[in-house]
Amino acid sequence: MKTQVGIIGGGPSGLLLSQLLHRKGIDTIVLERQSRDYVLSRIRAGVLERGFARLLHEAGVGDRMEQEGEAHTGFYLAQDDALLHVDLKKHSGTNVIVYGQTEVTRDLYAARDAMGGTVIHNAADVTPHDLQSDAPSLTYRIGDDTHRIGCDFVIGCDGFHGVSRKSIPADKMRLFERVYPFGWLGVLSRTPPVSDELIYARHDRGFALCSMRNRNLSRYYIQVALDEKVEDWSDDRFWAELKRRLPRAVADALVTGASIEKSIAPLRSFVAEPMRWGRLFLAGDAAHIVPPTGAKGLNSAGADIHYLYHALTRYYETGQMDGLDRYSETALARNWKTQRFSWWMTSLLHTFPEQGAFGQRIQQSDLAYLFSSEAALTSLAENYVGLPY
Ligand code: APR
Ligand code: PHB
Repeated sequence: MKTQVGIIGGGPSGLLLSQLLHRKGIDTIVLERQSRDYVLSRIRAGVLERGFARLLHEAGVGDRMEQEGEAHTGFYLAQDDALLHVDLKKHSGTNVIVYGQTEVTRDLYAARDAMGGTVIHNAADVTPHDLQSDAPSLTYRIGDDTHRIGCDFVIGCDGFHGVSRKSIPADKMRLFERVYPFGWLGVLSRTPPVSDELIYARHDRGFALCSMRNRNLSRYYIQVALDEKVEDWSDDRFWAELKRRLPRAVADALVTGASIEKSIAPLRSFVAEPMRWGRLFLAGDAAHIVPPTGAKGLNSAGADIHYLYHALTRYYETGQMDGLDRYSETALARNWKTQRFSWWMTSLLHTFPEQGAFGQRIQQSDLAYLFSSEAALTSLAENYVGLPY
């Protein structure tokens, strides 16, 4: 088999790039090691930057997002009984869209099907070859049969645990990582959200977040120690702890119910430099991870895909490699700003075992400064809605 762009990973990054390139007449094949049902079973955040929303429209998959997604022009920061409204519209001129990542992925799969795009599922042992040549290839196994795909470029959209980043020699890479000393215990419940907008709560007992998927599907998180086990958290225990971390009025309004999903996820910041090696380009979680506090995981993947889409289109239209040659530097420049913001929001809102009394006062004064400064709120808002591509 032969294609122009071989893509490893059928998550949102790989599917979005495949869809965008196909609409420009550029041929792609996506190799996904899981089944489609498995990919669509993942529960993930869904706060979309405007830039990401525009990218979905450019890919021809923005309609359901506009119909079913919710435009949010603000969110709340809570500390003890105080609630600060962050007016995104006032401080950034725009808003974010709350629309689940699973729905984004579902829409992308539907669009790939509609265009006859090639997504090969259950592709085992995907292996890139000859990445330093101008004729790289990908091999993969379906059952006992091994297949090879020749391509011009290989795009690693295979997430943090994928094969693409590991195909770059370790001495050619620099890895940057911060693992946080806590995790997020998340619950999905068929209950009406406690607030029309998200609430990020700082509390001495730990961080809490009130989010939603739609008017009847709520998503809540509480910070927990890394040694916590999800089986030790009954629904009742979760709801009681969440209420203790929220302002009284919010806790009293909270509608609890049976969890339909409950899990603990670790938090890390991670960046791999460079995001290119020969004809291999990394995008999304394959190259970087952020703690979910700033809702930047999917959005930072979107920025990479925007840069790659334009660079690859330029190459196939003009033969110029300049966009591809600039990709790693351009993508990393924006990603490090997203890393900073995600790290800052995480540092601001979580309790850290070693922070001590001084650290707690710094957090409280950081929040107090936000409560008192239009400039600080503008900075927060422009990062939250998404920096320009
Ligand atoms: N071969 C083929 N496919 C693979 C391999 C492999 N060796 N390793 C991983 N994959 C697939 C995974 O099964 C997954 O479907 O690659 C896909 C990677 O998707 P994501 O992990 O969702 O990463 P990405 O598409 O970059 O999307 C980033 O996902 O994890 C969230 O918070 C993150 O919201 C962000 C978004
Ligand atoms: C979510 O709804 O899962 C969510 C929302 C915002 C975040 C993180 C997670 O910052």
